Amino acid sequence: MVNASKFISEATAEIKKEAGSERVVIALSGGVDSSVCAALATRAIGDRLVPIYVDTGLMRKGETDRIKEIFGSFNLHVVDAGDEFLDAIAGVNDPEKKRKIIGERFIRVFEREARRSSAKYLLQGTIYPDRIESEGGIKSHHNVGGMPGTMEFTKVIEPIRDLYKDEVREVAGALGLPAELQHRMPFPGPGLAVRVVGEVTRENIAVVREANWIAEQELVERYRPWQCFAALVGLGTGVKGDNRVHGWIVSVRAVNSRDGMTADPVEIPFEVLGRIASRITSEIPEVARVVYDITPKPPATIEYE
Ligand code: XMP
Repeated sequence: MVNASKFISEATAEIKKEAGSERVVIALSGGVDSSVCAALATRAIGDRLVPIYVDTGLMRKGETDRIKEIFGSFNLHVVDAGDEFLDAIAGVNDPEKKRKIIGERFIRVFEREARRSSAKYLLQGTIYPDRIESEGGIKSHHNVGGMPGTMEFTKVIEPIRDLYKDEVREVAGALGLPAELQHRMPFPGPGLAVRVVGEVTRENIAVVREANWIAEQELVERYRPWQCFAALVGLGTGVKGDNRVHGWIVSVRAVNSRDGMTADPVEIPFEVLGRIASRITSEIPEVARVVYDITPKPPATIEYE
């Protein structure tokens, strides 16, 4: 475990030194990593920090409004880039290609916003497991390997690059961040796009967004898992009313983990699973069946792509 107060003073000094007299862009995602970075950087460089939130059109239900509320005092620049992201990944099936395209879009949006506010540097909440999985070629993390090779930013500052998630949460507590942020479930940079296996469309994003909302309502408070969500894994046949229908197969996943590098499925009583299946199939007409994923990581990953 880190010594949180020592880490905070060292990281603040590092950001101050790295930033010099420049302005620095940070992308807030609403997660604990970027929130901790924003709090550290505000201590270090005050209003030379340019906080940006990108609505990629791939966010969870209510996420953008919640983030505006939480970070209202941060002078947050909210960028509505939904069409830009969804158009860029239209027709793309390959998971790594999807991640790369989304990573590249993020950088282009950051660059645009940086030009507008004369910022030269980018600050990111990359943590240790992100680097390990990217360097090991396991996946293109959107804020590491998913970044394009050529960037306008002359420097990337990563103050929490050596921390594990539980250490980040501890630092968040020591910085006085709200408990809601400190304990928030991780949400991947590429958003709901990695919860649709195969091609992403506006229609299937709307379906997976609703299914995630239901899974979270049923599982977060009751089990406090490391992460829980729903994904669209394919199409199958079902019966609704008197008709056979072709609809989505939704996979619900809830896992516990220390650092996201390994994970175990949460044991959920049948009764709760039954209610989730019933709610998802009745509240979302496009869904034909619901399954619960009991695969640990490894061999499965936590997300579906
Ligand atoms: P996987 O699916 O690789 O995910 O087992 C491990 C943890 O990382 C999250 N994840 C990401 N987080 N950018 C992020 O910030 C990403 O590109 C990304 N991909 C996966 C995932 O939700 C899980 O907590």
